[in-house]
Amino acid sequence: MRYFLVGFMGSGKTHWARQWSAAFGLKWYDLDEEIEKREKQTISQLFQTLGEEGFRKKEHEALCTLLHLDDFIMSCGGGTPCFYDNMQRMNRAGVTIYLQASPAELAQRLKLEKEARPLIRDVADEVLESFIAAKLNERHACYAQAMYHFQTRFLKNENFEKIHRRYAK
Ligand code: S3P
Repeated sequence: MRYFLVGFMGSGKTHWARQWSAAFGLKWYDLDEEIEKREKQTISQLFQTLGEEGFRKKEHEALCTLLHLDDFIMSCGGGTPCFYDNMQRMNRAGVTIYLQASPAELAQRLKLEKEARPLIRDVADEVLESFIAAKLNERHACYAQAMYHFQTRFLKNENFEKIHRRYAK
């Protein structure tokens, strides 16, 4: 089965994909890392050289290539479900899981990790929470299409285990 973790930056997608891939013997792909490997540039460099639109195209291409593989868990980028037909493709190819967190929780985490994230790097700490709230609002309709929704702060291995038991061959 293919599992896709979606959600805002800082919602724990990478952490949980790494954790669950190790616990359940699945291959792990981090979509941002895969794009960086393919393009030989960091995400920040890609935003600089291609702009967001160019980055989204590269993201879509990387996703489409990886969709042909099997038995993996993927941590997507925060914007992945909201561009092209990425969300429909992921829902068709496998199981999508939305990791939810409040703007306040996300802002607290992201304050410490703004540098590598071009969309928030220049947003002042004092307005980060309201920036996140507005972006989450914009993206809600995409994230809402995920098949399973979990509050990140209550997540446990068992949440994924139940899903995996249902879909594993
Ligand atoms: C983005 C999230 C980032 C990365 C890029 C854009 C977004 O991934 O893909 O900076 O649009 O929310 P993470 O969610 O892993 O930080």
